[in-house]
Amino acid sequence: MGKKRIAVIPGDGIGREVIPVAVQAIEATGAALAFSEFDWGAERYLKDGTTVPADGFPMLERDFDAIFLGAFGDPRITTNTHAKQILLGMRFEMDLYANVRPVRLLDSSLCPLKGADPKDIDFVVVRENTEGVYGDVGGVFKQGTADEIAIQEDINTRKGVERVIRYAFEYAASKKKQDGTSRRRVLLCDKSNAMTHSGGLWQRAFKEVGRAYADIEATHMYVDALCLQMVRDPGQFDVIVTNNMFGDIVSDLAAGLQGGLGMAASGNIHPGKISMFEPVHGSAPALAGKNVANPIGAILTAAMMLAHLGLTREAAKLEAAVLEAVRERRTTRDIGGNLGTKEAATWISDQVSRQ
Ligand code: NAD
Ligand code: IPM
Ligand code: MN
Repeated sequence: MGKKRIAVIPGDGIGREVIPVAVQAIEATGAALAFSEFDWGAERYLKDGTTVPADGFPMLERDFDAIFLGAFGDPRITTNTHAKQILLGMRFEMDLYANVRPVRLLDSSLCPLKGADPKDIDFVVVRENTEGVYGDVGGVFKQGTADEIAIQEDINTRKGVERVIRYAFEYAASKKKQDGTSRRRVLLCDKSNAMTHSGGLWQRAFKEVGRAYADIEATHMYVDALCLQMVRDPGQFDVIVTNNMFGDIVSDLAAGLQGGLGMAASGNIHPGKISMFEPVHGSAPALAGKNVANPIGAILTAAMMLAHLGLTREAAKLEAAVLEAVRERRTTRDIGGNLGTKEAATWISDQVSRQ
């Protein structure tokens, strides 16, 4: 079998710092991968107006096994045009419908909650990734007048809702927790008390899909209540499935439970097709170029990508080295260490090489 091919797109800001060092950490595992880097992002857009080059997405689907992405967002581009076309464009056009965001506390010291135990914070947010308000359908009428109207449609299709819910149940049925126990519960998060049309569709699809999984409890919370419960008693969650926007919001809250955005990993998945992996955090312009960004979110994202490609032994090496770094406090300052991005990542890579 030849080497798996990885398209690497660091993007903007701290993406350009954390992605290269995460690639080094992958290389330290000895995984048989071939990397090709692409310069899509703010600099290229400002230089020649290119966001996604012609044939860009079909090329990725044709020539690669996975995509490893940094972050997009630049204060000079106030419209966020390039990020929408590259990041959201990739999710939509490649139909990467399940945005999988694991929430795992590696060490009690990282969690802002009193007395938090790592075994109690181990759940996943499965976020719908191809529709909702992110379709950006709508318009503005009478712009600039006192009568201005802005309409932002929320698109929920039976197909889109059903497949992401099924993905969440399949995840619960097949992926154990860190401690080896099974995931017993899937929770639907919505706002169906106010948004009755879309909420009704999610509720019906959830009930119908859930019937096929007799061993998994199907539960529900409104998104506001979920936010409260996430900080009061996160141990009750196994798998949370929700729409695009609620998933975006609750996954940043959940990142806080793990030690901040510098720790959070994600995969954008369509089973059977090419998938894309990216840390949950953005380009963090205030941190960019200072060698202070935490590389762990990117390294744990790399581990997710390796596991997805069947390289489970190599993925486990990355996870073990990250855990060791956290326990030894050989980390960046946001999680209590005193190392820079490069030094923290090198410590992890060295640890991987020694395994
Ligand atoms: P952000 O994730 O960039 O930063 C939010 C906060 O988390 C900041 O305080 C930042 O310093 C901190 N943080 C983030 N990553 C960190 C890391 N690796 N180590 C230590 N601290 C870290 O979100 P934002 O400030 O809302 O957005 C900045 C830009 O990024 C915007 O243009 C936004 O649209 C974009 N963005 C892109 C993505 C993506 O490409 N996937 C995700 C989120 C935001
Ligand atoms: C994320 C980001 C993006 C999103 C932004 C940059 C459009 O916040 O990946 O979580 O909202 O999906
Ligand atoms: Mn987000």
